[in-house]
Amino acid sequence: MSEPAPQKRLYIKTYGCQMNVYDSERMADVLAPLGYGMTDEPAEADLVVLNTCHIREKATEKVYSELGQLKRLKQDRPGGMTIAVAGCVAQAEGEEIMRRQPAVDLVVGPQAYHQLPELIARAHRARGERLAADFAPEEKFDALSTERRPTGVSAFLTVQEGCDKFCTFCVVPYTRGGEWSRPAEAIEAEARALAAKGVREVTLLGQNVNAYAGPDMPEGGGLAALVRRLAQIEGLDRIRYTTSHPRDMDDALIAAHAEVEALMPYLHLPVQAGSDKVLKAMNRAHTAESYLRLVERIRAARPDIALSGDFIVGFPGERDADFEATLQLIREVGYAGAFSFKYSRRPGTPAAAMPGQVPEAVKDERLQRLQALIDEQQQAFNAAQVGRTLPVLFEKAGRHPGQLVGKSPYLQAVHVTAPERMLGQIVPVKIDSAARNSLAGVLELETA
Ligand code: 5AD
Ligand code: SF4
Repeated sequence: MSEPAPQKRLYIKTYGCQMNVYDSERMADVLAPLGYGMTDEPAEADLVVLNTCHIREKATEKVYSELGQLKRLKQDRPGGMTIAVAGCVAQAEGEEIMRRQPAVDLVVGPQAYHQLPELIARAHRARGERLAADFAPEEKFDALSTERRPTGVSAFLTVQEGCDKFCTFCVVPYTRGGEWSRPAEAIEAEARALAAKGVREVTLLGQNVNAYAGPDMPEGGGLAALVRRLAQIEGLDRIRYTTSHPRDMDDALIAAHAEVEALMPYLHLPVQAGSDKVLKAMNRAHTAESYLRLVERIRAARPDIALSGDFIVGFPGERDADFEATLQLIREVGYAGAFSFKYSRRPGTPAAAMPGQVPEAVKDERLQRLQALIDEQQQAFNAAQVGRTLPVLFEKAGRHPGQLVGKSPYLQAVHVTAPERMLGQIVPVKIDSAARNSLAGVLELETA
């Protein structure tokens, strides 16, 4: 099918999680038939979309400062500029955005991206019309069935959205709504189309991806069954998923890690804290001990699995001893990497009103200590790969001529001197050095 040549320029800035990355791609797909081509330069854009994140205060505030800069660009642009705010800030405080920054033309919540073309047309007529953001997610995915244009050999694929867990610090259940799973048939069709376009690896996304329960799956057919189904697709050699909740890590999924070759040995399994008192106040519905036992079971199924996690320091009521328990848990697990955050008080969440809010300086100090420990573990994990041969999926050209960059099964970036024709291939690489965030190696066939 031929497409009209792009006459208009679209700039999308994405904040926050991988689900937003996926959504941004899909927004670009929806807008392409209207003649919008991508640009990296906001000053050149006819349409700017900020795909926002509401998870912590800092992320939210960034949006407002970015909007201040865009306002100036808009004023300087004779042809005008349409500014749209999408994502979780749009969902949570759409009216506030319009009030605080009049340069914004429209706000659109995560379930309404399929309505973007119509909204933009409407915004051009009357600035400031806001869209009701409460569509069924199903409608969104059906309407976003525009063909995808994957840009590489690895792609995200949203399979589940929303969360019913209500951790007391978290805005997600309010911004993204309850847990909802896409039908397996639609997911499989999207995965097949991606594979046909050269995608070798998919990362299945969901706020609670391992709570996946497709409406067209047999009773009990959760994420494990979906993974097994996608693993049959010719050309799709690697499957990952994120983010998981320890509560939904069932036996079937653990067994899939032992049995499904395409399922990569890397698991993001947030625990948040290591003190049972704090975990309880967080409403996590697991203890430190039950998490450790779960990790043991996963490692028994897949001994080489690499784990990563999310941690929050300075949750209300967290004492020194509680924080020490988090460090102790980290030592016991041994992570390949992690994301860690200072607790951020989010209006409307139960924890925001809890007593015992922790001073910023204490949070800073705890975060530093936690990150130092994680760094140490990450470096040790990377160093342990030296001397091993790992299958590397080459994804793009490296910074140096003749170099390609790929991913190990454990999600490490690997730099290798290799011919360009190997892009998209999975090739054995002998790892010869490790840095903090990446590995380097040589093609195994050259060492033979
Ligand atoms: N403050 C700090 N970190 C948070 N996260 C979620 N809400 C908050 C908050 N209010 C972190 C959790 C979650 C990750 C996506 O963001 O660790 O797993
Ligand atoms: Fe937020 Fe907890 Fe749901 Fe994760 S499980 S999205 S941290 S409420």
